[in-house]
Amino acid sequence: MEILHVSAECYPYAKVGGLADVVGTLPKYQQQLGHIAKVVVPMHRTKFLYENEWNVEHKGGFMMGDAHFEYTIIKEKTNKLDFDLYCVDIYGLLDRENVYSYDDDTERFTAFQIAVVDWLSHWEHRPDAVHVHDHHTGLIPFMMRNCYDYRHLAAVPTILTIHNAQYQGWMSWDNSNYIPAWDSWQGGLLEWNNTINPLACAVKCADRVTTVSPSYMEELTQKANGLEGLFRMERAKSSGILNGIDTVVWNPETDTYILDNFSIKDAAHGKKLNKKKLCKDFKLDDKLPLFIYIGRLVGEKAADLLPQAITDSISQLGKRMNFLILGSGDKRVEDHLTYLNEGYAGFYNSKIGYNEKLSHQMYAGADFLLMPSRVEPCGLNQMYALRYGTIPIVRSTGGLKDTVIDFGEQDGFGIRFNHASVWDITYSIHRAVELYDDKEKMTELRTQIMEIDNSWEKSAAKYIDLYNSIQLK
Ligand code: ADP
Ligand code: GLC
Repeated sequence: MEILHVSAECYPYAKVGGLADVVGTLPKYQQQLGHIAKVVVPMHRTKFLYENEWNVEHKGGFMMGDAHFEYTIIKEKTNKLDFDLYCVDIYGLLDRENVYSYDDDTERFTAFQIAVVDWLSHWEHRPDAVHVHDHHTGLIPFMMRNCYDYRHLAAVPTILTIHNAQYQGWMSWDNSNYIPAWDSWQGGLLEWNNTINPLACAVKCADRVTTVSPSYMEELTQKANGLEGLFRMERAKSSGILNGIDTVVWNPETDTYILDNFSIKDAAHGKKLNKKKLCKDFKLDDKLPLFIYIGRLVGEKAADLLPQAITDSISQLGKRMNFLILGSGDKRVEDHLTYLNEGYAGFYNSKIGYNEKLSHQMYAGADFLLMPSRVEPCGLNQMYALRYGTIPIVRSTGGLKDTVIDFGEQDGFGIRFNHASVWDITYSIHRAVELYDDKEKMTELRTQIMEIDNSWEKSAAKYIDLYNSIQLK
């Protein structure tokens, strides 16, 4: 089978969050299963772009509204990622430092999608599946079916994977002329609540819709930023497939970012050394349990609750634990977390920014990972933590619910709570501090979590079954 993944991010080429990890890993595993998986992303100006060599694969042009754009498809020369990686350059629109957050994102991502479909229409053969990820690629299934220039692609199966339904790519009808001429009676497919909604459009037009965990699929039928009714309507073709993790990149035995590599057998010693170094770097006390948070500092992650949960825990329990935070996002939360650095020095520290290497060191050196997310479609951090012997403390939602069982339950190994509230977080921290004092239980749990298999094998095969279910229709 030949699969073309279309995405805004792909690790290690360009990463903002978990979408990049998934799009950088799933194709690798699909290749290992004997399929051909390719990835196409916008050409962002990243380190990976400059450090690698590229061949020009195709050049073309298209109209978007009244403007004509030229595009170039380049391909990484050496198959460095174990699958073919293609980038789309569009003069004036792509080739920027950041992946998102420009005023002209609507134009940038619409143009990216037109270029991908146009390029596809020039292939001498058809792929067996076009797999689009999130709203930035949501117009593609529509364009392949309904735009006059591309209707010869109509029979190619399309799959939408939703990594995050909060963002939908809303576009005013004033911009509808950006989309190449389509059957006007099909205009309703583009719309939800009087605006063009690329995510809703993909949910309607794709042959299959997946979300990145089964629980998140269920939750979307109740709460989906306005699309609940649509998810209920399209339930029959939708399913949840849990993400996996790249067990080669995230392997404490070989990870070159961490100070001391360790396996299940010598985890107690290995983690201790990593913790010592981390605590030294951040002026923390390595004898106390170390709680970490890594992630975007946004409302969905409930990062706004962290400052109070941390200060409350310290005032209620005394200086019985350390905290280390790594993240960026909401300025107010960033400032609040930085503000605590001084007053709580010695048992609290935070680093605002994005730092891949430090994140690995934190998963390796910590005792507990905090993930109080209000919304978590899947979440990868908790799975990385498990692999590095760090106990996840999660809110019971989405993928967190599907991957973490509370240690108070049968076969449990983590800490789970129900509400994204300061009280639930501090209570869970309290439970963790008590657990930490039970060395035997900690050792038992560490072994148990490091043995959990969250690799991509099973889920990669589920996607192949899904593509096949469309071919056979
Ligand atoms: P999301 O995609 O919603 O941000 P995920 O849990 O799926 O959440 O994935 C987050 C990914 O981004 C993980 O690989 C995590 O380690 C990484 N990450 C998030 N914030 C940072 C940061 N500030 N520095 C380094 N890595 C980060
Ligand atoms: C999104 C979600 C996150 C998920 C990731 C990869 O960013 O917020 O929960 O793990 O995509 O699918």
